[in-house]
Amino acid sequence: MELQKALGLIAEVPDFPEPGVLFRDLTPLFADPAGFAAVVGALAETVGPEVDLIAGVEARGFLLAAAVGYARGIGVVLVRKPGKLPRVAGRVDYQLEYGTASVELPAGIVSPGQRVVVMDDVLATGGTAAAACKLLRDGGAVVEGVSVVMELTALGGRAVLEGNGVHALQAC
Ligand code: PRP
Ligand code: HPA
Repeated sequence: MELQKALGLIAEVPDFPEPGVLFRDLTPLFADPAGFAAVVGALAETVGPEVDLIAGVEARGFLLAAAVGYARGIGVVLVRKPGKLPRVAGRVDYQLEYGTASVELPAGIVSPGQRVVVMDDVLATGGTAAAACKLLRDGGAVVEGVSVVMELTALGGRAVLEGNGVHALQAC
């Protein structure tokens, strides 16, 4: 399937998770084999030849990272929400509009100097991706870039991630 048609499978859901927010729902895209293949193929092209590991951000980033990692023959490391990992290498706390969130990296997976691409479905404020990049760098990785399906430009994530080489298949 052509990439633009595949991206057209992403649904726009008004007022989720709260009034006034237009939520981009990728579940119809994930459920469509040809659409998913097109998006995974395009994301795989954003990953350079020298990359050692793909970091998938919980939860939807896991699907994308796993598929791209499989397609490219590259391993995957999980960037998880707190309390899920039995052995933790590090944790980064970051600000949300209201409150804080955290991401954790599993122990013993990332070796110093390994080149990693961070993968997720949506780049919004950039807080999650920036925290994932810091977590990986704290763990000794070299972050080669951040690849997402969709960038919500009005929320300014690209500026937050300045210098991190953001690739988005679609900006809106
Ligand atoms: C979404 C999305 C990104 C993040 C983007 O995850 O999948 O990880 O938010 O937002 P940001 O750029 O403002 O940080 P969500 O928090 O909904 O978690 P989930 O995938 O576990 O549902
Ligand atoms: N969709 C998915 N994840 C998100 C969104 C969205 O619209 N906004 C912030 N994170």
